[in-house]
Amino acid sequence: MDVFDIKALRKCLNTYLIGRELRYWPEVDSTNATALRLAAEGAVEGTVVLAEAQNKGRGRAGKLWYSPPGLNLYLSVILRPAVEVQRAALMTLISSLAIADAIDAERGQAQVKWPNDVLLAGRKVAGVLTELQTMGEQIGALVLGIGVNINIDQDMLDRALGETPWRATSLKAVLGREVDRVGFATILLESLERRYDRFLASEGKAIVQEWKARSCLGQRARIIERGRSIEGVAADIDEQGCLLVRLDDGSSVRVFEGEILPPIHG
Ligand code: BTN
Repeated sequence: MDVFDIKALRKCLNTYLIGRELRYWPEVDSTNATALRLAAEGAVEGTVVLAEAQNKGRGRAGKLWYSPPGLNLYLSVILRPAVEVQRAALMTLISSLAIADAIDAERGQAQVKWPNDVLLAGRKVAGVLTELQTMGEQIGALVLGIGVNINIDQDMLDRALGETPWRATSLKAVLGREVDRVGFATILLESLERRYDRFLASEGKAIVQEWKARSCLGQRARIIERGRSIEGVAADIDEQGCLLVRLDDGSSVRVFEGEILPPIHG
């Protein structure tokens, strides 16, 4: 089994903030849960928690994130931006873009899908789970959890996940070759740092523009928000990272959280 070379990552990573503290475990329950615990104990901003495997990897909406050892990337980054809670959604977009940058470097063509997915060849290859510790309206700590299917075989994914609305895939399955996980993590974290700096410099508009350019907006979709199903065209996202859905009667609704699924009425 390939073991993640954390020493090599320490050596390669050229960042001043993200990864200045790099914590590695062969297995954890969830790197997000671990990062939230460390954040509560006062971990410095930029701390990265990386694990070879997770036995309770968290996906969105209470789902489990399949996290076998030796194949993929599971990491969480602790940040402490002095911004209001409403701006946290932009951090999820930034993380998706950083993942897309690392996929580009492998000559893949990644797309992003609201709110937190990265697609390769139309299938989900990575996801982001952002969790917050708040102090009133302010963010105490923000944990960006990033999971990327890298060298897992398509068969193994299909067997583990069964039918999913957006069939999962991996870089290996699409590119037809293995990808070096350390090199991938290095590019991802360096890109995340550059994008975080721009976020702090309030370039919210630029982030949203860049995200849109990579997205599959404009397609018909069904959106499930807190149990409510809305069908229409996933038309746009606003400056806070909320999705704007155009309904069949011409009106629009703004969706804060939820999941885009394939439409029932094509
Ligand atoms: C999604 O459902 O798309 C979000 C998946 C996020 C998974 C990653 S793996 C590393 C980090 N730790 C977790 O427990 N979850 C995130």
